Amino acid sequence: MINIPKGTKDVLPGSSYKWQYIEETARNVARAFNLSEIRTPTFEYTELFKRGVGESTDVVNKEMYTFEDKGGRSITLKPEGTAGAARLFIENGLASSPMPVKTFYITPAFRYERPQAGRLREFHQFGIEVFGSGSYQTDAEVIFAASAFLDKLGVRVKLEINSIGCKVCRAEYNKALKKYFEPNLSKMCEACRSRFEKNPLRILDCKEEGCKKFTAEAPSITDYLCGECSRHFDGVKSLLDNQGLKYIVNPRIVRGLDYYSRTVFEFVSDEIGAQGTVCGGGRYDGLIAELGGSSLPAIGFAAGIERLMLLMENTGIKFPERQKVRIYIAGMDEKTRDKAFEIATALRLKGISAEIDHLNRSIKAQFKYADKLGAEYVAVIGENELLSGELKIKNMSDGTQTAVKIGQIESYLK
Ligand code: HAM
Repeated sequence: MINIPKGTKDVLPGSSYKWQYIEETARNVARAFNLSEIRTPTFEYTELFKRGVGESTDVVNKEMYTFEDKGGRSITLKPEGTAGAARLFIENGLASSPMPVKTFYITPAFRYERPQAGRLREFHQFGIEVFGSGSYQTDAEVIFAASAFLDKLGVRVKLEINSIGCKVCRAEYNKALKKYFEPNLSKMCEACRSRFEKNPLRILDCKEEGCKKFTAEAPSITDYLCGECSRHFDGVKSLLDNQGLKYIVNPRIVRGLDYYSRTVFEFVSDEIGAQGTVCGGGRYDGLIAELGGSSLPAIGFAAGIERLMLLMENTGIKFPERQKVRIYIAGMDEKTRDKAFEIATALRLKGISAEIDHLNRSIKAQFKYADKLGAEYVAVIGENELLSGELKIKNMSDGTQTAVKIGQIESYLK
């Protein structure tokens, strides 16, 4: 037998309703926030992620599924949704539409990571990306959209926010970080030594114990924000405060991708183990220009669907029950089974879920089967029913029976 690849998961018929529920909740929130769906390909040219996500990130350095196609092009399975969304925005000239352009997506993403609870090699994200507004109100709106989505699902998470400044203040901060880390650089991991050159901020995100002890006392970005970045961050915080959205400012949040500037945020849980971030995002005002578009600000987030599912299961949150079979129609022999087929088909074509036996089961076995399917009603067709054109429809929850003409089953069930 050939098994499923490491770090991937099947969605089984008995649990797909959980996925549908989370996706439907995402779509409803997107509608309320006036976001339009976009879909980008599963793979892009590798260059997009190298330039978009950034060469100092683990995602680009270690985790991408990259291969050469038969035409010799370097292709990468998307490790996240933002770079593709930005490419779509630029390539399709959306910069000439009224701003902001507010989008969302539900997408698979691929990262070659060491699988563990909440960490997969293929996972799924609900993300939103808003292009063309640099105002702090947009930051607050995007954070509220994430919070509304998580609230609707009933999960309890903590919101942590930070500002990592703009090009100007980050340059000052990076200098301070370099000065701070330099004396201990030789004791830090190889990745951090390379981060030191490329993007010292990234050192704060290092998971190595040996490096963590040096990052604990590192200077805080909050002390280096320029006037404009400070005002922007104050604006975001005041809107969250005014609306009663609780958060903590965590100056250690730097996010794992290179494109961020100013506001960054994460929604975290301590109920799902080490991979506690269920949703992360932030502003990325330089990305559109970096990818060859005009200089336009943008902000977004992505929530990991598998992590949310894990959190909901671990904390006993009930998913609404999936739709059951409305009516099960049992036949006894070839003629009555054909009739059951005919009635079920007519109902199905009207959008009513109907089921029949496919395996020549006895009537007793069919009742058992109908029960397993959770059928709300069961009707049996015998010779008498064929003659009279009337079925006795049994309500499975209270056991009552009602005689209904075959032509009236649809209106009876409605
Ligand atoms: P990210 O923090 O890399 O951000 O991923 C967002 C979310 O995807 C995480 O919080 C987590 O729930 C989920 N996730 C990430 N990696 C895995 C994995 N290996 N297995 C399971 N779930 C995972 C981004 O991807 C950005 N594009 C978010 C964004 C959008 N920023 C601005 N716009």
